[in-house]
Amino acid sequence: MTQDPLLRDMPPEDFRRAGHEVIDWIADYLRDPRQFPVLPDTHPGQLTGLLPASAPEHGEPMERILEDFRKLILPHSTLWNHPLFFSYFSVSSSGPGILAETLTAALNMNGMLWKSSPAVTELEQVTLGWLREWLRLPESFFGIIHDTASLSTFHAILAARMFADPDIRERGASPGFVLYTSEHAHSSVEKGALALGIGQRYVRKISSDEAFRMRPDALRQAIAADRAAGLRPFCAVATVGTTSTTSVDPVAAIADICEEENIWLHVDAAYGGHAAILPEYGHYLEGAARAHSLVINPHKWLFTPIDLSAFYTRYPQALRGALSLVPEYLRTPDDPLILNYMDYGVALGRRFRALKLWFVMRYFGRESIAALIRNHIRMTQDLARLIEADARFELCAPVPMSLICFRLRGPDEATRTLLEKLNQTHSAFFSHTALHDRFVMRWAIGNIHTTWEDIVKTWNLVQSLAPQ
Ligand SMILES: Cc1ncc(COP(=O)(O)O)c(C=O)c1O
Repeated sequence: MTQDPLLRDMPPEDFRRAGHEVIDWIADYLRDPRQFPVLPDTHPGQLTGLLPASAPEHGEPMERILEDFRKLILPHSTLWNHPLFFSYFSVSSSGPGILAETLTAALNMNGMLWKSSPAVTELEQVTLGWLREWLRLPESFFGIIHDTASLSTFHAILAARMFADPDIRERGASPGFVLYTSEHAHSSVEKGALALGIGQRYVRKISSDEAFRMRPDALRQAIAADRAAGLRPFCAVATVGTTSTTSVDPVAAIADICEEENIWLHVDAAYGGHAAILPEYGHYLEGAARAHSLVINPHKWLFTPIDLSAFYTRYPQALRGALSLVPEYLRTPDDPLILNYMDYGVALGRRFRALKLWFVMRYFGRESIAALIRNHIRMTQDLARLIEADARFELCAPVPMSLICFRLRGPDEATRTLLEKLNQTHSAFFSHTALHDRFVMRWAIGNIHTTWEDIVKTWNLVQSLAPQ
């Protein structure tokens, strides 16, 4: 009996043909992404203008959809998985991660409960255990996957508040809880506090030293002043690898203060934590084992497709106490061996993100991951020396990882113009930040395809566009 075409999925043979075409396209893309410009030459609204205002009434052939992907979508895309993407934090998808994402979509499982798909929950526990071991963190760190570091940090602040005031669940928040972080912390920390109703006036941005690291003495003073004013310090967030410069806050000294003051310590190691997989950079996470929670984003520097953020806490009961709410339709028998992740986060539905991390960790192994990260750091250090050797430029911050902050000597305008000219070539993509109120270019290296040749070529381009 033939099926009514209006009532069926794509026929398996059509899927197979189109699937081969898609995989062929990806393989060609990955063989050399340089065949495409990293930045599109697009003006706002341009793609929207090229697309129909309404969805089709009748289904269209996959060939046409794929053709439009190539002709319409791709030319208006900024290619993050590109060796000449040096902006923000340069990140990487990778072959094994891409394959796993495809399988995740095919199975379309939802890991809200252990019962809703045991593999989703158990693989998440296993892979996060593996990652914890690579980072040399203790087994007492419970792990859960969120989409982004922003959401992980939101959950850290939420747990911290529950830890400080368990009645909050029933009573609701009251003002006066104070959160501390460095002036160089990522905006997600303040945003998490905003979302939780902490109030911007209760977020303290602690000053940093000459290497952009949070000053423990300033933290101590701020806490004392707030206590004297009758406020309730409850959470401090230290960063390992700040967004502007990859500076590393002195986590051990901050942990001492948090222990003395009985304050929750969250470590934002979203990017920089990966360096600690290498024994020679293990000290970047010194003191982190004493934190109450920590976030690291494998989608930043562990070659895992966006999105996957790993959140760890020594106090999962604080999350559970704050968030567990089980309606009848989600009730399952109590079993101490069963973990229902929905009890530990705001989201109910949970994608099978652990699969891609499992594929990536197994395919590369620790040795290859460490070699890739080490190579990124080494190329970055070598590039820093090239930049230093050109008298027109100055480095604006130490280079502890794989990011360089640099500028043209003199007024900001020259660096701004250089950045614009560079990005207008569409062949490399840089971003900027401000340090000591000066405009600074950021050169981030972190894509699996980036070679030393790419870097030298791009440096030659930078030099040729700079004032002679
Ligand atoms: C140090 C740090 N923390 C947090 C974030 C936020 O990451 P996400 O986009 O996963 O929310 C970033 C983003 O770059 C970051 O650099």
